[in-house]
Amino acid sequence: MVITKPPLGWNSWNTFGPDINEEVVLRSADAMVETGLLAAGYEYLVIDDCWSLRVRDDAGKLQADPEKFPHGMKYVADYLHSKGLKFGMYSCGGMLTCAGYPGSFDHEFVDAATFAQWGVDYLKYDYCYHPETRVGADIYRRMGLALANCGRDIVFSACSWGADETKQWIGSTGSHLWRSTGDINDSWASIRDLTLSQLPDQVFGRINCFNDMDMLVVGMNGAGNVAVTGCTDNEYRTHFSLWAMLNSPLMIGCDIRSMSDETKKTLLNQELIAINQDAAGRQPFVVGGTWPNYQDSFCIAKLLENGDIAVGLFNLSDSDRLLHFTTEDFGLAVGTGKTLQLTDLWTGKKESVKNEIVNEPITAHGCRVWRAKVMDCE
Ligand code: GLA
Repeated sequence: MVITKPPLGWNSWNTFGPDINEEVVLRSADAMVETGLLAAGYEYLVIDDCWSLRVRDDAGKLQADPEKFPHGMKYVADYLHSKGLKFGMYSCGGMLTCAGYPGSFDHEFVDAATFAQWGVDYLKYDYCYHPETRVGADIYRRMGLALANCGRDIVFSACSWGADETKQWIGSTGSHLWRSTGDINDSWASIRDLTLSQLPDQVFGRINCFNDMDMLVVGMNGAGNVAVTGCTDNEYRTHFSLWAMLNSPLMIGCDIRSMSDETKKTLLNQELIAINQDAAGRQPFVVGGTWPNYQDSFCIAKLLENGDIAVGLFNLSDSDRLLHFTTEDFGLAVGTGKTLQLTDLWTGKKESVKNEIVNEPITAHGCRVWRAKVMDCE
């Protein structure tokens, strides 16, 4: 199968970690529908690590923990599908998963068949405990081949955290997206550091093999499995804007059964989701510089399918800054008689660029993002 857009959905890990069970999954599925997340495009519900028993069954198959999932995984899949959702699960290319449950190494074909039989649509595939003698490309090619031959379309989500130069070989493995970062946690420092580590790697992202900057922490507010300090709503907006602009999958990590209005507003920003899901799938770039010629404040842009440009000014530093871009930065030479009309993607406010330059004060940890349309100068 081919995927042309970064997947959107929810994953259990950030909030629930090992405390995942059928009730949490089913009620989260309900919440995805009731809150409008599904209608906004968030279609995958992914159960992360810790769903299985510690041993395989007599036939060598993975088995769901009956205390956590009393009706089994097919039941969960059927429920999600009846709601219009798609079902994601988790395994690992090593002997064990990162939390110590059975991994899929040397069981790739039997596990792919099991997932297909259960009705799984998406597999997150981790990198812990893989044999030293196998390079990463082998680990992911093995499962890539098994999934491609399991008789069901299953999105293959590689999770080797960018280790062992993942970017150099992941495109050959059958993965549709690949974790290009270490694990996120619910703190501003984590959002900033993952972003800065990612800017040079945007050139490796492409349709059918998207860079994955890890799940969103928007709305966690310091609670849950990867909680640290929590962030302000402003910081969560910057985080969401960055992940959307950088073509990362948008996998929600907060407890969607109890989101604040502010969290909903952020996650349901249709204009930013449209930038993320733009059909052209072009690589974002840092304006006015080449990777990695940036500091902690920069302008990112992405050319869109209809001729518009997504533009964001991001200030990841701890002090307010005046940031700028010029129309020429996007190829709009002076003398064309054209300028840009900007629509602010958080407020909807429209303005046109005067004198070829936008100079904007951006607060610490803040951003402005626009959709820019080419238009005649007045
Ligand atoms: C790794 C992954 C995380 C999560 C945990 C589960 O750390 O990077 O996203 O899946 O394993 O154990």
